[in-house]
Amino acid sequence: MTGSFLDNETWKYFWHPVCTVAELDASDHGRGALLKTTLLGVELVVARTESGVVAFNNRCPHRSAKLSLGWVRGDAIQCPYHGWSYGAKDGMCVAIPAAPNGPIPPNAKATKYDCEVRYDLVWVRLDNLADTNIPGHLVFDDPEFKCVLGPSYTWKTHSARRVENFVDLAHFPFVHPETLGSSGFNTFLAPNIDFQNEGTLRFRYVPQEGARKAVDGKGNLSPLAFSDYRVRAPFGVTVDLTLTNGSRMVLWVWATPIDDIHCRSFWFTCRNTDRDGPDQPHIDVQARILEEDIHVV
Ligand code: FES
Ligand code: FE
Repeated sequence: MTGSFLDNETWKYFWHPVCTVAELDASDHGRGALLKTTLLGVELVVARTESGVVAFNNRCPHRSAKLSLGWVRGDAIQCPYHGWSYGAKDGMCVAIPAAPNGPIPPNAKATKYDCEVRYDLVWVRLDNLADTNIPGHLVFDDPEFKCVLGPSYTWKTHSARRVENFVDLAHFPFVHPETLGSSGFNTFLAPNIDFQNEGTLRFRYVPQEGARKAVDGKGNLSPLAFSDYRVRAPFGVTVDLTLTNGSRMVLWVWATPIDDIHCRSFWFTCRNTDRDGPDQPHIDVQARILEEDIHVV
């Protein structure tokens, strides 16, 4: 695979989350759970059918109506225009109401994409030519951690730009002087980067004493001891933060490319202390930090 920074031809070989399971299920207004979403400029319909969650191109192969305006019928999606139904198994048309006895044309087939549910997110891969996997999540299944799926956010920037900001160490004293950073500390040593399998690179950032803060179990900003970064190609980052009080906080983010100039970030904040405490302070503090970032990104 080759490609430039903005080459969406490359990113189509990877899995990306396109919506949350919660929003898919909330989309059911009597037509079944199906919603429209966009990945790499391709409009999709995601639906919960009897045989599982599926993702099709949103265009009906008959006369191009949007399937997302139709209905879930058992394990098929029915088009809102002439009622043709497309099966979850392979997208093949299984019924034409106006010609119940006629042959089904072989090209009456909706384009189906790889689709899986993981971490309460719906993941889609537009092209399965390459043997890629859904990225790991360090602590999603770890009973010692409470993981909270934060509200996703869409920024007018490319996914790569969003990831770059997430792993940038030098912006803390300027963009986050009152939250994560401290305006007195401007110097950073370049961390040693360790390249691993499956397109993952890792590095540890050990700040000078007093240079960095992170969110503690109660959702307050506390001194950071060190943080381990895992950057998973192409658009995922996990930051495993250890505070000076010994507690850990794991931030997980994936910046899904909607198109060339928009990305939608899905993220978790996970903590191993105060697990029974309220989640909202954790959402609020991240929202405050993101507000600081969006102006520069
Ligand atoms: Fe979909 Fe005709 S446009 S059935
Ligand atoms: Fe930032």
